[in-house]
Amino acid sequence: MCAQTPEIRLARPEDLATVVAIYNATIPGRMATAQLVPVTVEERRPWFAAHTPDRRPMWVAEGPDGVVAWVGLTDFHERAAYAATAQISIYVDERARGQGLGGRLLDHAIANAPAAGVTSLIGLVFADNAPSLGLFEGRGFERWGHMPKVADTDGDPRDLVYVGRHV
Ligand SMILES: CC(C)(COP(=O)(O)OP(=O)(O)OC[C@H]1O[C@@H](n2cnc3c(N)ncnc32)[C@H](O)[C@@H]1OP(=O)(O)O)[C@@H](O)C(=O)NCCC(=O)NCCS
Repeated sequence: MCAQTPEIRLARPEDLATVVAIYNATIPGRMATAQLVPVTVEERRPWFAAHTPDRRPMWVAEGPDGVVAWVGLTDFHERAAYAATAQISIYVDERARGQGLGGRLLDHAIANAPAAGVTSLIGLVFADNAPSLGLFEGRGFERWGHMPKVADTDGDPRDLVYVGRHV
């Protein structure tokens, strides 16, 4: 492995600010998230803390200049019968995209999800988010749901796709 290749590891508390920054950078593009205004580190603390390694891990990719990407599992639904199903979110810093990092992180999450008691992964992706759909579908995810015009980004109706796979 090249010395410059980002290393994938579990997220640590000190990663929160960078995780939020990578997420916030995608908001203006209206492609990755239905969040419309930037989130703050403070408001994201409970969400970050809910990423426990035993059940809902978050991993980050760290290169020579620090953390450049993250992938996290969260509850898909609060009801007990969905305990083994997790929503997966994956964000790569724009400068680090197109180099295989998103794929590595997704492979890592797929490989390690069973150890966290997760047997199904579901990604929520805008239907016109080609990079994300390409990433998931290239790794065996299928379109399990299509919800037309359920989001509105600045007056622009957006379709939501649920991509899922069992692991
Ligand atoms: C989607 C995202 C995570 C991909 O990360 P990445 O590091 O650029 O992806 P990779 O270089 O590992 O590419 C993996 C696959 O993604 C797809 N992909 C990546 N960029 C793409 C693009 N611009 N157009 C179409 N497909 C693309 C391809 O299928 C690619 O497969 P390949 O390896 O056979 O070429 C990244 O674009 C991103 O962070 N986007 C913003 C956040 C987001 O939309 N997250 C998804 C919602 S949870």
